[in-house]
Order: sequence, then structure tokens, then C-alpha cells
Amino acid sequence: MIYLDNAATTWPKPRQVVMAIEEVLVHKGGNAGRGGHSAAILATRFIHQAREDLCLLFGTDDPTRVIFTQNATHALNQALFGLLQKGDHVITSSIEHNAVARPLWALKQRGVEVSEVPGIPGKEFDLEAYDKAFRTNTKLVVTLHASNVTGTLLPVQAIGQIAHEHRAYYLLDAAQTAGVLPINLGRLGVDLLAFPGHKGLLGPQGTGGLIIQAGISMVPLLYGGTGSLSEEDRQPDFMPDALESGTLNGPGIAGLGAGVRYLLDEGIDKIRTREQALCRRLWNGLREIPTIKLYGSGPVERRSPIVSFNIGELDSVEASFILEEKAGIIARAGLHCAAHAHRMQGTLEQGTVRFSPSHFTSVEEIEAALQAVKRVVEDL
Ligand SMILES: Cc1ncc(COP(=O)(O)O)c(C=O)c1O
Repeated sequence: MIYLDNAATTWPKPRQVVMAIEEVLVHKGGNAGRGGHSAAILATRFIHQAREDLCLLFGTDDPTRVIFTQNATHALNQALFGLLQKGDHVITSSIEHNAVARPLWALKQRGVEVSEVPGIPGKEFDLEAYDKAFRTNTKLVVTLHASNVTGTLLPVQAIGQIAHEHRAYYLLDAAQTAGVLPINLGRLGVDLLAFPGHKGLLGPQGTGGLIIQAGISMVPLLYGGTGSLSEEDRQPDFMPDALESGTLNGPGIAGLGAGVRYLLDEGIDKIRTREQALCRRLWNGLREIPTIKLYGSGPVERRSPIVSFNIGELDSVEASFILEEKAGIIARAGLHCAAHAHRMQGTLEQGTVRFSPSHFTSVEEIEAALQAVKRVVEDL
């Protein structure tokens, strides 16, 4: 099997991640923050260490403002429902994943005003249209960092700067870029960062988080036990307890922490260089094959490690089925939970086949994938 669906979830994980999870299951299985006994304290410590390491990775310095969630969707929902109320205005792009588009649709039904900056994945984000979209009640801007359909990067630094000029917060959906590109919250002007733990950060599924810059408060999505102020009915108002109710995913967070330390040790730049080289090879190889349609534009330097394509008019789901059946290639096909982006790109019917390598993918695997596509084209 050749796994080329790392944009959905990375696999395999580094050995260190597997070992960290095993270590918790075997030796550190207490419930963090629940009681003063040594097992709880041990768990609280490694969870705190993971918060510290995430701060280091994202260039921020208050570990209490890193909250753990089940995935990026959960983090985005916490930020959107936590910040926006009836009468508020939010600006987004027209190429968002359903993890943003659906909460915003639901918020719209509750009286939140939503504006979409139109655009095509792969084309430049229209900063002028974006600047004009602000209103006096604009509270938040939310965009993805890289399209999960084409990998195209948005100009997040400019988006953040313009949001601040209009006194709005900027929430960045880093689902495709956390652990893939260097991200420094201060430099990019990001106020809230939603990230999955199970993609570029190399942790297990069931992990993710939200980083909230100082001075921003929001309503919790969940209320409940935090191990603190148990005598009070009211939810604690200090972080992270204010936004972290119920038992945390200890083994998962240990794995996520190990993934982050792996990235810090290896260096994101080194990983990025390798992933770019693999994508360049894929892109150039696919371009040579007759009938292949490639999506997005611009060099791999301005994309996350995703190459999206179609084989003539062949349905993308059928194409990926043939690729797996004939050559064991695992690729994502269809709409990738991002119908808005496909509508803008004109691929709502056909979808696209998406190859997303990781730095563990070998050059031989890339060549095998290209040969497999060639054979499908020849057999059509
Ligand atoms: C751009 C984008 N946002 C959000 C998500 C949701 O991430 P998760 O599955 O961790 O909730 C994804 C998942 O692929 C994504 O690509």
C-alpha cells in the first residue's frame, strides 16, 4: 500500500509518538487535574509539557492559553460559537472547509451576519474585496491557512494585519499547515489558532487544540468538571479550565506532545523542503501525462503538500478506486468536505483526486503513483 492521504491524517506516525502513548497507557495512566495523588500529578505534568511545546512551536508563551480539543473542527466550533453572538459580523473566504462553513451557516440562523470573500482555490485571495467587507460590527475574520483542495496558501499575514486595522480578531484554521509550515502567531497577526493534532503535528486521531491570545475571552462550548473549584456551579473563568471540561485525552495528548517534539528536533524547514520536493515531482510528472487536469496554480513553495488532479472526465471517486485496486495507491477523492471550494473551482460534480505525501513518503512511492496514473490513463 502507498499512503498518499496525509492531508486527511498523517500515517505512519514517528516511533516516538507510539512510544509516548504506550508509556502513558502502561505507566502514566492517571487523570490529569483530578486529585492530588501522584498518578494525577504525573498526568498533569506531561499534559502541561505538551502545552509548553506547542507554545514553542507556534511562537507564543502562555501554556494556559493552549486548550486541547478532539480535532480542529472542535477547536473551530469553540472559537466561533464562543465568540460570535447575534448582531456580530464575521468575514470568511469562499474556499473554507465544512469545519468553518457549517458552524457559520448555523450561526447565521442565529442572527450572526456572515460575509464571504469570493475566490477560487489556487488564485490570489482578493485583499481589496476583503478590506471592503468590514462593517462597524465586524468582530472576527476566519480563514484557512491552506486550501485542503489545492494546497494554495492564503496571505495570512496581510489578512491578519487588515483585520487588526479594523479592530477585529483573526481566527486561523491551520488544519493543513500546523507542523507543515513555520507558524508564529505574533508575526502572522493571528489571535486564535485552531489546529488538528493528527495531521502535520503527527499525533494520534482524537487530538487538536485552540490557542487563544491574551485578552480574548469567550463562552465555553462545553461546561462541566475541571478538577478545580468543584464546590461552585459556575464554570471556572481561568484558563485552560474555562474551556476544558471533562477528562482530557491523556494518551492522545502524550502522543501529540511527542509529535511536536519530533518536529522541533527535526526542524520544520527540513521537513518542508522534503515535502516540497516530493510535490514538485508529483506535479511535474502528472503534467506530462495526457488528459490530466491539475488544479491550483503557483509554485509548490506557495502551497501545502497537496497535489489535486483529475483524469480527463473520469469521476474522481472512481479514479481513486481504480488507483487503489490496481496499484494500492491510497488517495482522497471527491469533495474533501469542502464543497464551497469545489463550487468556486468548477469541480463540484467531478471532485478531484488528491495526493498528499508526507516527509516519510519515498521517491519510489511517488514514482509508483505516477506510473499507476499513467496506466489508468492508458487503460481508459
Ligand atoms: C482546512 C481544514 N479545516 C478543518 C479540517 C478539520 O480537521 P479535523 O478533521 O481535525 O476536525 C480539515 C480536515 O481535513 C481541513 O482540511
